Amino acid sequence: MIDRATVEKILDAVRIEEVIGDFVSLRKRGANYLGLCPFHQDKNPSMSVSSTKGIFKCFACGKAGNAVTFLMEHEHLTYWEALRYLAKKYHIEIVEKEETAEEIANRMRYESMLVVSEYAQKFYADILWNTEVGKAIGLSYFRERKFTDETIRKFGLGYAASRPLTLSAAALKAGYKKEYLVGAGLCLEREGTGELYDRFFDRVMFPIHSISGRVIAFGGRTLKTDKSVAKYVNSPQSEIYDKSRSLYGIFQAKNSIAKADKCIMVEGYADVISMHQAGVTNVVASSGTSLTVEQIRLVKRFTDKMTIIYDGDEAGIKASLRGIDLVLEEGLSVKVVLLPPEDDPDSFAKSHSLVEIQEYIEENEKDFITYKSDLLWKDSERDPIRRSQVIRDIVQSVSVVPDPILRNVYVEMVAEKFEMKPDAILATIGELRRRKRALERSRRRFDQASETVIPGSTRNLPEPEELIPEDLPDTDVSTPPVQPDRYAVKDAYLAVPERELVYYLIKFGEYPLHFEEDMYYGAEQRPEITVSQYIHDALSDDDLVFVNDLYRTIFDKYYAYLVTLPREDCEAMQQRVIRYFTAGEDPAISRAVLDLILEEHPLTVRTYEESITPEEQALARTVPKTVLLYKLRITEQQCTATTKQITLAQRGGENDTLRELVARLQLLNTVKTRLSRELNRL
Ligand code: CTP
Ligand code: MN
Repeated sequence: MIDRATVEKILDAVRIEEVIGDFVSLRKRGANYLGLCPFHQDKNPSMSVSSTKGIFKCFACGKAGNAVTFLMEHEHLTYWEALRYLAKKYHIEIVEKEETAEEIANRMRYESMLVVSEYAQKFYADILWNTEVGKAIGLSYFRERKFTDETIRKFGLGYAASRPLTLSAAALKAGYKKEYLVGAGLCLEREGTGELYDRFFDRVMFPIHSISGRVIAFGGRTLKTDKSVAKYVNSPQSEIYDKSRSLYGIFQAKNSIAKADKCIMVEGYADVISMHQAGVTNVVASSGTSLTVEQIRLVKRFTDKMTIIYDGDEAGIKASLRGIDLVLEEGLSVKVVLLPPEDDPDSFAKSHSLVEIQEYIEENEKDFITYKSDLLWKDSERDPIRRSQVIRDIVQSVSVVPDPILRNVYVEMVAEKFEMKPDAILATIGELRRRKRALERSRRRFDQASETVIPGSTRNLPEPEELIPEDLPDTDVSTPPVQPDRYAVKDAYLAVPERELVYYLIKFGEYPLHFEEDMYYGAEQRPEITVSQYIHDALSDDDLVFVNDLYRTIFDKYYAYLVTLPREDCEAMQQRVIRYFTAGEDPAISRAVLDLILEEHPLTVRTYEESITPEEQALARTVPKTVLLYKLRITEQQCTATTKQITLAQRGGENDTLRELVARLQLLNTVKTRLSRELNRL
């Protein structure tokens, strides 16, 4: 962890035009810089970089952010990686936050295992390039497979020999600890003697990289054709390697995946390498296992379009069919390319030119509906039962698509293809989604119920059947998100003024409010009051807390940050505030704040007249107005709620309560009138 002070220091040093200038050539234009936007195919420079505000914005594609988010997006770094990058660029020494002894031990352990993995990669590569056995067996094998030297280096390929050239011996001699060699899955301990031996020997080695390029595992391929020897030996799961969360080639492919806005999924190491060598670089492999949700989510960080190219044989087709629904379910669009039956991506890439490969993909890429129907429809012409099964299979795939709009597009496609009524398909989909939801719900409830169960008793466990609700509304066919959005809007009506108040905080919080003589002060009258003080006082006067989590979080963070902020001129303070929020760790917050700063349409309380006077001159009017608007909306809601309660109390004949409620409603109405009047006066 980098401590807060260092983060500040890094952000202080950053000049956004220098950071972006390393990737995009920028030209000065007035106070700003202009360049070609790297986030879309930009023909005329449409990305503007403001060095004073520290932000960039593309007027063509809308992408915006600051130096940190630029690096996160462009280089696919995490927040902390981006900060480290900047620290390096500006020669700032990183002071790590104090860790507990346990944290240090864990980090060291983790780092140590990465270090031995990297050592092993170099060791295997060294054998490949520099020893007789490596050159004679490993290198000549790769060359036979037509891998160029450049490719072999790019993927860090190597050769694991056997005695006396063992990793165990070399690593121990170089001072690496047994514990980490074993932990990283490279070596094993002989029972009894505790002697170390290698997991990989007599194999060509494919290192597997993490998304940031660290070596986390290996696949070792035997060169023997002997069927009794496993073709591949792979690193086991370890603290640094989770197979289901890794994709072979992701480090080498991530930039082109983002650029092409498409990821090609193949099966094997050789497929990835040959495709890269042919010039198709947005390719990764699931390494022989069926795709996992985590792997798909990894891809989703760079694109939401996936094309599966598996072997044209039966196993390849089966695997592709398995993958489709999972990919769709994660909200990606999916296409499938079938190769000629005798080919796999590796052989195909080798026997065709780049243009031929690209053309083949383009011409043979089928959306999943076409793919499945072409595949399954074939010999079912005269078999109505088979046919309905095929349709049901395809509709099932459509039903897992989370986006209702996209789902409807697919429904139209299916309807056209099979000459059916869309309504019939929609009805089936509604039914399938309802069932799935019910199943999920019962599973969740079952899980909860099992948590509270008394040991040894099954009485608390409900029968699964009884958990499936039957009265689900028909119209609601969209699945509620399993993980509720942390910042979901709870109250849209109040979100409007809440957002607006946050806007004033972020943009002008430390600016003074200059009230004129006859102006309404609302909160405690003070000659010198800042926007943030005013808002704070005005809200705490009435014990108001923002209802919507996003705005409440920003609000709380603002005042917490303010305490740590040195007093200087308001513009400088505000710049720090903006930087703090836009370079924060929580992307949802940074995005929301960026949206506010870059806002182009007028806010609710700003009139045309105000929109032509500089905003900061109108603050004494607009800020109190927003506060009033907010209070008015809350009061209105309270009136509605009270009216409802009154109806209930009348029905129940609770006279005392009724009297109280009526009095309350009268009071609320008075407040409402007062607020509206004040609002009109401003
Ligand atoms: N695989 C594995 N273990 C095996 C066989 C396969 O882990 N025993 C994984 C590997 O990741 C391999 C992928 O499944 O890359 C695809 O298998 P296959 O097509 O057999 O291997 P290729 O990589 O294509 O190897 P080659 O072209 O050398 O036959
Ligand atoms: Mn192969």
